[in-house]
Amino acid sequence: MHKDIQEILFEEKTIACRIEEIGAAITQDYADMVERGERVMLVSVLRGAAIFMADLARRIDLPIEMDYMAISSYGNGTKSSGVVRILKDLTSDIKGQHIIVVEDILDSGLTLKYLLKNLASRGPASIEVVTLLRKETLQQAKIDCKYIGFECPDQFIVGYGLDYAERYRNLPYIGILEPGVYHQADQLGDARRVD
Ligand code: PRP
Repeated sequence: MHKDIQEILFEEKTIACRIEEIGAAITQDYADMVERGERVMLVSVLRGAAIFMADLARRIDLPIEMDYMAISSYGNGTKSSGVVRILKDLTSDIKGQHIIVVEDILDSGLTLKYLLKNLASRGPASIEVVTLLRKETLQQAKIDCKYIGFECPDQFIVGYGLDYAERYRNLPYIGILEPGVYHQADQLGDARRVD
C-alpha cells in the first residue's frame, strides 16, 4: 500500500468484479436497442473517469461507441460550484443516440447536473448515468444514476482515476488519503485544486 494512503476502501479485485457486474447489466439493458440498430455511446468526463471507462467498456458485450468531454468547474478550489465550462466537447453528434455518461465519482452532483442538462439539449434518444462511486453526503444534487458501483464515505478518496493535486490517479485501488498529505500542502499554501 502507498505510504500516503490511510486505508484501502476498494481493492483492485473488488473493483474489477463490480465493473464486470455493471458491464453485464448494461449489456442486458441495451441489447434490444442494439438489436434494433440503435446506437449506444459511452461518454466519459475527463480526467478522473477515463480509467473506469476503459475498464467498463471492455465488460460491455455490445457494439458501443465512446467519446470524451473535458470540463472545468469554477469553485473555491475544493468543491464544485456547479458553474462549468466545457474545455473539450464531444467529437460526435449524439442526436438520436443512447448515451451512458460514465463518471468516477458523484460528490455534490453539480457537475453531473450541469452535464445532463447540456447533453439533453442535444436531442439524444436517452441518457443514463453510471458512476463508480457515490459519496454519502447530504448536500447532493438529486441525480438519477442507473448504475452505481459503490457507496463511499464522505472522505478524501484517491486512486483508480481519482487524484489529489494530479497525483494517485494510477493507484490500482481506491483508498482514503492520509490527512497529513493535504494538511501539509495547506500549510505550504498549495492553492491547487484538491478534489
Ligand atoms: C471530479 C469527478 C466528477 C466531479 C464530481 O472531477 O470526476 O466529475 O469531480 O464532483 P461533484 O459531484 O461535486 O460535481 P474533477 O473536477 O476533480 O476533475 P478530474 O476528473 O480531472 O479529477
